[in-house]
Amino acid sequence: MNLLFTIAASLIAKRPLLNIGARFLATMADALKTHEVIPDVIDTVPPAIVKVSYPSGVSVDIGKELTPTQVKDQPSVEWDADSSSYYTLCMTDPDAPSRKDPKFREWHHWLVTNIPGKDVSKGDVLSDYIGSGPPPDTGLHRYVFLVYKQPSKITFDEKRLTNRSGDGRNNFSIKKFAQKYNLGNPIAGNMYQAAFDDYVPKLYKQLEG
Ligand SMILES: *[C@@H]1O[C@H](CO)[C@@H](O)[C@H](O)[C@H]1NC(C)=O
Ligand SMILES: *[C@@H]1O[C@H](CO)[C@@H](O)[C@H](O)[C@H]1NC(C)=O
Repeated sequence: MNLLFTIAASLIAKRPLLNIGARFLATMADALKTHEVIPDVIDTVPPAIVKVSYPSGVSVDIGKELTPTQVKDQPSVEWDADSSSYYTLCMTDPDAPSRKDPKFREWHHWLVTNIPGKDVSKGDVLSDYIGSGPPPDTGLHRYVFLVYKQPSKITFDEKRLTNRSGDGRNNFSIKKFAQKYNLGNPIAGNMYQAAFDDYVPKLYKQLEG
């Protein structure tokens, strides 16, 4: 069926766009390949996209550039969830300190586990949300959102990380984390890119405690 027609019909019927056009969503997820999230972060194309909307009014749209100012506050996140399952949500930056020289890959920005269905607010926060803070002159960084379906509720032994410090955030690997807890491959993904702006120094202040 004509894609635009499908979207228009969905909008008229006020059905959530998230639930239509599985093939279209898979194509968007495939765009993660273009941005080399595969293989830099994960090995497989997630079968769906995760919808990420910021309080500033912007949404994540695979690869599209956003500013640190626009993403400073925790977004709302939505995916096709099974209400009787638990999920893990991660946001991670493989380009720390820069895409050219990613020696601290990955710097993870957000890690929430044991999310019942899609109710992120009821999950166990291992790492508080921290917005983008790409250092000056390090170009665009990729910020990748991934959702994993957990085999069950899990006890995680990671240290809880607040949004008042950057300690423990770098040298992370969501792939290794997923392996450690048998989370399998991500079921949904998305990403944006961002470069330094004048919000970043404020964020660094916040991380000083
Ligand atoms: C930091 O995290 C706390 C607790 O999760 C939250 O209440 C606060 O709004 C966050 N601050 C910022 C600047 O994100
Ligand atoms: C992170 O990895 C870099 C490069 O491999 C290493 O020099 C550094 O000590 C590591 N940092 C931590 C906190 O493990």
